[in-house]
Amino acid sequence: MNDFIFQNTTKIYFGKNQLGHLGEEIKNFGEKVLLVYGGGSIKKIGLYDRILSELEKVGVEIFELAGVEPNPRHTTVNKGAKICHEKNIQILLAVGGGSVIDCAKGIAATFYCESGDCWDLVTKKFPIKKALPVFAIPTVAATGSEMDSSGVISNIETNEKRGISSKLIQPKVSFLDPTNTFSVSAYQTACGSADIISHFLDLKYFADDNQKMYMLDKIVEEILKTVVKFAPIAIKEPKNYEARANLMWSASWALNSFLTMGIKQTPSVHAMEHELSAFYDVTHGLGIAIITPRWMEYILQKNPEKVAPQFKKFGVNIFGVDENLSDMEGAKEAIEKFKEFLFVTLGLKSKLSDLNIDDKNFAEMSRRACPNGELKGFLTLTPKDVEKIFYACL
Ligand code: NZQ
Ligand code: ZN
Repeated sequence: MNDFIFQNTTKIYFGKNQLGHLGEEIKNFGEKVLLVYGGGSIKKIGLYDRILSELEKVGVEIFELAGVEPNPRHTTVNKGAKICHEKNIQILLAVGGGSVIDCAKGIAATFYCESGDCWDLVTKKFPIKKALPVFAIPTVAATGSEMDSSGVISNIETNEKRGISSKLIQPKVSFLDPTNTFSVSAYQTACGSADIISHFLDLKYFADDNQKMYMLDKIVEEILKTVVKFAPIAIKEPKNYEARANLMWSASWALNSFLTMGIKQTPSVHAMEHELSAFYDVTHGLGIAIITPRWMEYILQKNPEKVAPQFKKFGVNIFGVDENLSDMEGAKEAIEKFKEFLFVTLGLKSKLSDLNIDDKNFAEMSRRACPNGELKGFLTLTPKDVEKIFYACL
C-alpha cells in the first residue's frame, strides 16, 4: 500500500440533543452568519426555527441565502459570495443536503476570489487561497460533504458539473442529527444510499489489491453491509432512528478520507454521473445507481482477470453470493444481486430511458468524462468505452 497522511479536521456533534452547542461553536468564529439552505424542507421540519432560536440566544446576526438548487449552480454560489461582502459575513452555516453544503463551500472560497466568480475556482483559473469558515447541518444521508473537503458545482450554461477541493472549505463543525432526516422521501433515501455505496466502491473497495490495507477493506465491507441493511428499513420506517443514524454516519465515513488511506484512485463512475447531471440535471444518487452496475458489467468483460475476483468478493461478503462459484460466475451473480438491491429493494428507476434520456449527447458526454483522452479509475477507460457504458444504461 501507499504512504499516507491522515487528518480530518471537522468537529462532529452527533445525535438528537446537540444543537444547543451551535451558538457556542459559531461564536468561536464570529457574529455574522449567512444561513444557506434549499427549497424549504428545513422550514417544514422545524429545523429553521430551532437554528434561529439557538443563534439568537448568543446574539449572532443572521442573513440568509435560500433556494439553493439540487446540483447547485455557480450563479447561486456567486450570489452568496456577493451577500457575504455586502453584509460583512464571517461564517457560512449550511443546512440541507449535499447541494446546500457544497454551495456554502463554494461561497466560502469565492468570497476571497478576486473575480468573484466561483467558476474561476472550478476551472482553476485562480487557486483557493483562503475561505470563510463553513458549518454544516446535513439533512440527508448521502454525499459526506459535511466531513470532506470537496464541493460539486454546476454551470448550466455550459453543461458542466465539476468539483472544487481544498482543506480550507472543509466544514469546521458539523451537527449530525438523524432526526433531521426523518422527513427525507423514500426516493431521496434510496438515492442517498446508492451514493454512499458508490463512494465505497468507486474510490476504494474496487481498487488494485496492492494499494489496499486489509483492516480498511474489512471496515468498508461492514459499512457496506450496514447501508444494505438499513436503507430498506429507513424507506419503510422513515422515523426509525437506528436506521437513519446508521445511514447518516456511514455517509460521513464514506468520504472523510479515513477509508481511502493509501489508495490513489479516480472515481470513474462519479465522473460519468457528473456528465449525466451536467446535461440532464438528474439526481446524483439516481445517476450513480443506473451507471454503476452497467460499468461493472462492462469492465468485467474488458478485464475479467483483474475485475472478477473483486466483484465476486463483493458479492460473497455483501450479498451472500455462494463462494464456491468461479470468479466469473460469482462476479456476475454479484452484479445481479446488486441490481436487485438498487432497482427492486430500493425501488430506483433502472434505465436512462425511464428518465426520458436518449443517446443524443452520449458522444460529447463521453469525451468530456475523459480528460486527456482517458478516464482513470479501477480500470482505465477510453471515450469509446464510456460511450458504450452510457448505451448500456438506456
Ligand atoms: O431543497 P430542499 O427543500 O432542502 O429539498 C432537498 C432537495 O430537493 C431535499 N431534502 C433535503 N433534506 C431533506 C429534504 N427533503 C425532506 N426532508 C429533508 N430533511 O432533498 C433534495 C435533494 O437534495 P440534495 O442536497 O441535492 O441531495 P444530496 O445530499 O444527495 O446532494 C447531492 C449533491 O451533492 C453532490 C452531488 O453531485 C449533488 O450535486 N456531491 C457532493 C459530494 C461532496 N461534496 O463531496 C460528493 C458526492 O459524490 C456528490 O457528487
Ligand atoms: Zn456521490
